[in-house]
Amino acid sequence: MLILGIETSCDETAAAVVSDAGERIRANVVFSQIAEHRPYGGVVPEVAARAHLDHLDGIIARALAEAGIGIKDLAAVAATAGPGLIGGVFVGVMEAKAIALARRIPFIAVNHLEGHALSPRLASALDFPYLLLLASGGHCQLLAVEGVGRYRRLGTTIDDAAGEAFDKGAKLLGLGYPGGPAIERAARAGDARRFPLPRPLAGRPGCDFSFSGLKTALRQQAQALADASGALAADDAADLAAGLQAAIGDCLADRTAHAIALFRARWPGGNSLVVAGGVAANAALRQQLAALAADRGLAFIAPPPALCTDNGAMIAWAGLERLRLGLVDGLDFAPRPRWPLDPAAAPAIGAGVKA
Ligand code: KG4
Ligand code: ZN
Repeated sequence: MLILGIETSCDETAAAVVSDAGERIRANVVFSQIAEHRPYGGVVPEVAARAHLDHLDGIIARALAEAGIGIKDLAAVAATAGPGLIGGVFVGVMEAKAIALARRIPFIAVNHLEGHALSPRLASALDFPYLLLLASGGHCQLLAVEGVGRYRRLGTTIDDAAGEAFDKGAKLLGLGYPGGPAIERAARAGDARRFPLPRPLAGRPGCDFSFSGLKTALRQQAQALADASGALAADDAADLAAGLQAAIGDCLADRTAHAIALFRARWPGGNSLVVAGGVAANAALRQQLAALAADRGLAFIAPPPALCTDNGAMIAWAGLERLRLGLVDGLDFAPRPRWPLDPAAAPAIGAGVKA
């Protein structure tokens, strides 16, 4: 059974073909719009939607060609139907519905967050339930994953997401966009201990996150070091990048440690700590969480970095998991700009559109 997965919720135009048997990922094509957004220092929704429209047909054709199949070989088509930048989401959903209608195959509306949440099961043998740290550009949550479509949120951010903290930090330090990889690169040459940055909420009860105070502290340090033109010396920028990465890592690890205790008590059958989402591509963070998991006697699972950042394979995989359970959608499914994984969880204070 071959499934086409389409991802257009942010600044990656992506399509993939995933199979339920043999080698799972038959093709995984990601076109990054970074160059189109770089002049603006971040993603511009309107630019993203138009770029998805320009590129999606070609990306799907490439994915099918790389998989060595034709559109007639597809058993179903899945697309990210939210949450995300709605213009782009519409482009992907309309394309998927058109293919489903023309080929008379099922259409599956995938929650982008579920794509991230189930992505570790695409690359590794992993049973439910598991504890998931989902850290991306728009979200930072700790979830107990009980099954497909069954999530219990244990914590979320009360202000910025972890990826946002990386992106805003990189912008402040003049390291460019996207921020996560830029901070990780710069941090390799830096001394994380030179500038003490805060660890918001660390040591406090609960599993919620906060990163905005960290950003303010970083800005103050950067301003104190900048020259008259506002620029930072390379070694200062590297030390601040290393300090920021360490602080974000410590915050994530501290909150995850609390979530492990909760998870253990409420889901005694679970034995894995899983990290997913774009921030999970960070090697230092993966090491830190692996050490935490080992210390608590949990298995640690992180998808390969290319499956952490946005891609079509995770959407195809989530589609496949849903299809197996008979969870398909009608062609009247309306894309959702907001779509929480755990609808029962209360919105976090100040979380705005990120809930
Ligand atoms: O999951 P993703 O590709 O898109 C969203 O759903 O948001 O995550 C993108 C986020 C961005 O904030 C980016 O800076 C961050 O993931 N990111 C990283 C790394 N690679 C991507 N953060 C830290 N280290 C990285 N290597
Ligand atoms: Zn994502």
